[in-house]
Amino acid sequence: MNEVFFSVILPKLTLFMDVLVHGHSGSRWLALALLVFAIVNAMLKLKSDKYEKSDEMLNLFTMVMLHIQVTLGIVLAFVTGKISYAEGWMKNPQYRFFGLEHILLMVFAAVLVTIGRKKAEKALDPAKKHKTILIWYIIVLIIIFAGIPWPFRTALGGSWF
Ligand code: HEM
Repeated sequence: MNEVFFSVILPKLTLFMDVLVHGHSGSRWLALALLVFAIVNAMLKLKSDKYEKSDEMLNLFTMVMLHIQVTLGIVLAFVTGKISYAEGWMKNPQYRFFGLEHILLMVFAAVLVTIGRKKAEKALDPAKKHKTILIWYIIVLIIIFAGIPWPFRTALGGSWF
């Protein structure tokens, strides 16, 4: 039984964790790139009298990407060693960050991106739609930047990908 665990099950679990962590970590770049594209696009079209299908799709994909990140994050939260709510966890920077700050900031960002896009869709004037996306998506970008465990925050043990 021990042999089966170490030779068959453990390598598969390790691979699963690696794929999950690097999938969640690497796709931050796609999420950030989409957010920046959507913001620049809204900025360039602030005075436009058209809100085209391509604008709608860009803003939608950006929101969906953030939702995917949150979904992967929730799965990770159950299996990672970087979250523990054992006594004194708030005094440990890594446990506090991943078990509280990261989750709150990222879920908040996902809620805001959803509200912002909905408001833009409901606005009647195309210029108003672009302005709404611009404001809400910039706020979301700032929150996500603050919530990412950048490698220069050495206590968090994050990586670039
Ligand atoms: C827009 C949403 C999110 C983004 C952009 C994001 C981004 C990241 C990044 C860049 C890392 C660093 C991974 C590394 O450097 O190895 C990370 C780690 C992690 N994230 Fe998120 N995250 C998001 C949402 C969430 C949510 C909502 C949860 C939990 C409910 C979560 C749970 C975690 C956990 C547990 C880790 C540590 C994984 C480990 O190394 O074991 N994330 N996240």
